[in-house]
Amino acid sequence: MTKNVKLSPSILSADFAKLGEEIKKVENVADYIHLDVMDGHFVPNITYGLIIGESLKRVTEIPVDSHLMVERPEIFVDDFCKISEIVSIHYEATYHLNRLVNRIKENETKAFVAINPHTPVEFLQDIIMDVDGILVMSVNPGFGGQSFIPNTLNKIRKLDEMRKSMGLSFEIEVDGGINEDTFKPVLKAGADILVTGSYAFRSENPEAALSVLKKGS
Ligand code: DX5
Ligand code: ZN
Repeated sequence: MTKNVKLSPSILSADFAKLGEEIKKVENVADYIHLDVMDGHFVPNITYGLIIGESLKRVTEIPVDSHLMVERPEIFVDDFCKISEIVSIHYEATYHLNRLVNRIKENETKAFVAINPHTPVEFLQDIIMDVDGILVMSVNPGFGGQSFIPNTLNKIRKLDEMRKSMGLSFEIEVDGGINEDTFKPVLKAGADILVTGSYAFRSENPEAALSVLKKGS
């Protein structure tokens, strides 16, 4: 496999009492640190916000990949752009996607649009030329440790076809249920960035676990 896969371990499954130590465990193999921001409205769970993102910046040079699972993301994007290389906003969470994508890019941050498992990739046809990436949710957002939804593979394939046929180069990030059993078909379908929460941080040796994925299929 020649594809250069990027890994974005999610601290959602890390031990928050020792976050600095947890980050060190993945630092040699992580391309990003994935920050799952949940507001208890867009998803039925609450996690953390900007303060944790700022703490991350103090303990690692690895760029932050912020995934905003919040209602009204327009309230938060400017602040998250200050600490992130990527900011993902959900298609389902805003009435003004184009406006918000432009605002993220004006902040010199990569603008990704995330879609829930039920949202067809065809709905992205008029935004994909403006984004740096699409984050395909392969579980229902809100919790770590869920099982990969197999139909997601069709969505990744379709998105890859749309990318090729339109001559675009946005990245495809896949989030949810990624582990050593699921990652190969995901890469084959066209994914460029893999998010891994429980697989990375709940394994005995996070660096070794992530290295398996880094080698590709
Ligand atoms: C789920 C989050 C994911 C989560 C993935 O809502 O967006 O990033 O951390 O966790 P795993 O890899 O355990 O499915
Ligand atoms: Zn996520």
